[in-house]
Amino acid sequence: MRKHIVAGNWKMNNDLAQSVALISDLKRQNQTSTAEVMIAPTFTNLWHTTENLKSSPIEVIAQNMHFAKNGAYTGEVSAEMLKSIGVNTVILGHSERRAYFNETDEMLAKKVDTALESEMRFIFCFGEELSDRQANTQETVVANQIKKALFHLKASAFKNIVLAYEPVWAIGTGETASPDQAQEMHQFIRKTLRDTYGDSVANDMSILYGGSVKPANAKEIFSKPDVDGGLIGGAALKAEDFYAIVNAF
Ligand code: G3P
Repeated sequence: MRKHIVAGNWKMNNDLAQSVALISDLKRQNQTSTAEVMIAPTFTNLWHTTENLKSSPIEVIAQNMHFAKNGAYTGEVSAEMLKSIGVNTVILGHSERRAYFNETDEMLAKKVDTALESEMRFIFCFGEELSDRQANTQETVVANQIKKALFHLKASAFKNIVLAYEPVWAIGTGETASPDQAQEMHQFIRKTLRDTYGDSVANDMSILYGGSVKPANAKEIFSKPDVDGGLIGGAALKAEDFYAIVNAF
């Protein structure tokens, strides 16, 4: 069954005091939708946030993880380390990881396998660059990203996966994809799944949109039939704005 999901990606924001204050504000918000709510703090804030939200419906997730189980990977964290502090969901393939840390589709396929072997759920991010959109090759680019990282999997694996379409040109720019553009790509993504894995995987997959989602545009974007929620950056850093988006269904 397809779920509505709103996940807040805090990116590299909030020290300990700011994180504690934001969590306190989030706990005071009133949720009127039935959406699943997730937040992704930085690694330094994961433990206390998980502890603080133990009795809350908000799920605390990680922004990244390495594909190795452990070892000489300075600065990295493993799936088992995340699970050991109660984090069972992770964002993989964010465009900023791809751009600034050279994460390739092949490397992401390894992270996908590690997440599944560790019985973790993950939000798999992908999306075209502005140059791809200008060349009208967005469908080819997005299909390749999904197929290279995910299409080695069996159909049963997809119950642990959430997809997040994030056109790179809309991330952090205030330049949101129009609701029709989002629907067009989400419909294409669901068809790409259906063509290989059939109706069940395609129909049950939650496909989130990310890229300058704000309280003012969330309702129209989320009203589209193939949009199942959002992956939120800037607007996730203010509790009232984040819950205006959570309640936009
Ligand atoms: O992961 C979500 C993020 O990339 C979107 O950022 O600030 O455009 O909502 P923002």
